[in-house]
Amino acid sequence: MVSSNEIIEEDKKMLMQSFKRWYPVVIDHGKGSLIYDIEGKEYIDMNAGIGVVALGHSNEKIVKAVEEQARKFFHYSLTDFYYEKAISVARRLLSFFPFKGKVFYTNSGTESVEAAIKIARHHTKKEYVIGFVNSFHGRTLGSLAFTSSKAVQRSGFSPLLPSTFLIPYPDPRNPLCREDCASEIISYIEDWLFKKIVDPSEIAAFIMEPIQGEGGVIVPPDDFFSQLRSITSKNGILMIMDEVQTGIGRTGKMFAFEHFNVVPDIVTLAKAIGGGLPLGAVVGREEIMDLPYGSHASTFGGNPLALAASEVVLDEVPKLLDHVSYLGKKIIEELSSALSPFLYEVRGKGLLVGAELRKDGKPYEEGLAKVLDGSFNRGVLAIGAGESVVRVEPPLVIEEDIAMKATNIIKEEIEKLR
Ligand SMILES: Cc1ncc(COP(=O)(O)O)c(C=O)c1O
Repeated sequence: MVSSNEIIEEDKKMLMQSFKRWYPVVIDHGKGSLIYDIEGKEYIDMNAGIGVVALGHSNEKIVKAVEEQARKFFHYSLTDFYYEKAISVARRLLSFFPFKGKVFYTNSGTESVEAAIKIARHHTKKEYVIGFVNSFHGRTLGSLAFTSSKAVQRSGFSPLLPSTFLIPYPDPRNPLCREDCASEIISYIEDWLFKKIVDPSEIAAFIMEPIQGEGGVIVPPDDFFSQLRSITSKNGILMIMDEVQTGIGRTGKMFAFEHFNVVPDIVTLAKAIGGGLPLGAVVGREEIMDLPYGSHASTFGGNPLALAASEVVLDEVPKLLDHVSYLGKKIIEELSSALSPFLYEVRGKGLLVGAELRKDGKPYEEGLAKVLDGSFNRGVLAIGAGESVVRVEPPLVIEEDIAMKATNIIKEEIEKLR
């Protein structure tokens, strides 16, 4: 049998190393919220394959649904043909939205973002799209223009999509925020962006994460998006909410925008919606989802196997929302009680939690590596976000005792920091 070390060596030789692995674990299989490496060691999964496997690993209902679909047909491109699963998932998905909407299927988060930008530009016939610093929206050349949680993501890939600007996110840690972060960023938009940089009549959309995930689990003030909604509505500008990471129950509501008393025009989804199979979706108000025939499509978007999994996800996740909210609060409480001078803040909503580490007032990156390594060695898989934030994002189905066991291990590793 090959060992983990051998696979890691071959991986280095054969795969482009443009992405970071946090520690040397080689996955063999998973069940629920547990993962097993190829040497048989068990781990508690506190990242769910980066927020994807909401119903846990190899969920029996998903296995059955995908198997049934596989016995019928794997693929028959939705771009040119019809099939029923596309409708049954859309019906479920649209039932969660407070507006009459339409769906466009993709295969990933970045594709959903690309599609949303095209839809917004085409519909409004305007060219500017405004994003927020420290966001993550994907890595293809369109979405990359709005991704800026680390400079390396953009470095060497310019020129990026033109007619885009990035403005400060209402991050309570942002030096621009003094007393009332929401109003201060809104003033910046009205007094600087609209007056000095681009006239609002030329802006198609603002694109934003309701909580910045990759950027460090940054939760904006409660009233920011409703204030932004007022000025976008007044100026005929669309709001694109990127819920690729936060959507489908992750924060204790089906969509994170529900926490903020706002209704966006377009929502981008991926990750959890396919239950582990590649699926993404754009949901927008019916009147906006009006790209003409032939103008946008994807061979694999809305793959029947992924849709079969998605039906199960969309049926099961609403039943988990109370559990997600309850457990998220408990995890925040537990991590917040860590006795460590390096624990700056624990924040988040539902099962998207970040514990930020700082040393001498600055991000403590070494501390993050120590906590993640220490947890990994004790059988807990968690990863980082931002510069020095421990990200806790387990499958939504994780049992309370397993989640708290892993949380305690992370807490103890934080307390060990010197
Ligand atoms: C908010 C958000 N948007 C878009 C993406 C990109 O998704 P993908 O990696 O599926 O392209 C991510 C990925 O982490 C994300 O968190």
